Amino acid sequence: MKTVVISLGGSILIPTLENHTIKEYVPVLKKIAKSHRLFVVVGGGGEARRYISVTRELGIDEGTSDEIGILITRLNATILISALGEDAYPKVAETHSEAKKFAESGKIVVMGGITPGQTTDAVAAVLAERVRAAVFINATSVDGIYSADPKKVPDAKRFALLTPKQLLDIVGGTGLGAGSNNVLDIVAARVVERSGIPLVVLDGRDPKNLSNAILKGKYTGTVVSDGKKKPLPL
Ligand code: UTP
Repeated sequence: MKTVVISLGGSILIPTLENHTIKEYVPVLKKIAKSHRLFVVVGGGGEARRYISVTRELGIDEGTSDEIGILITRLNATILISALGEDAYPKVAETHSEAKKFAESGKIVVMGGITPGQTTDAVAAVLAERVRAAVFINATSVDGIYSADPKKVPDAKRFALLTPKQLLDIVGGTGLGAGSNNVLDIVAARVVERSGIPLVVLDGRDPKNLSNAILKGKYTGTVVSDGKKKPLPL
């Protein structure tokens, strides 16, 4: 069984509590887990941003704001675990070692954040290293990595293929404040470079994109890899 680590952005899983895609993601994740060893790292989404805007208003420091963000990611992870029922390991992994241990159950392992100063993308990138994943997938709210933020720059160009070094050049200039909103954080990009594990950034707003990508190799997105071999399907 090939191992897949998915960074499932909070902005697509739970953009707001009223407007989530958990129901749609549950059958998709269960289907992938039938033929793959699956780890899912869940982001904080809109609720994390709302909490962090309050901590900022109160003048609370960035590190504490990050801790609050982590709590929200774990809350979201708990909701996903509960919705997956028997197919998921029943506890949110709070460290990478714990995630590896939980995977011995053969069930889907879900985690949130772990440490301040990064986002769940970095958690997922290191997890991909630790569990020797065949691929690291970042399911996010854009369909790949662009030359500029496509939501702000309409003629931004999407890259089909990047080397890890090019990825670092692209994300290197972006900030890392609590709740910051970039396609991938710099820590994750660095880990992708050192691990050599291919990264696929794809549009997770439609959950079927994820199963089509992993099982059929059908997706629109960006592959970050030094290798020539296509990372998907697995
Ligand atoms: P996210 O990973 O959700 O960040 O963590 P994000 O950039 O908002 O991602 P999307 O848009 O949901 O996909 C939410 C916040 O939690 C803190 C950070 O403040 C982050 O911005 N966090 C998360 C950490 O400090 N450490 C972690 O390991 C994870």
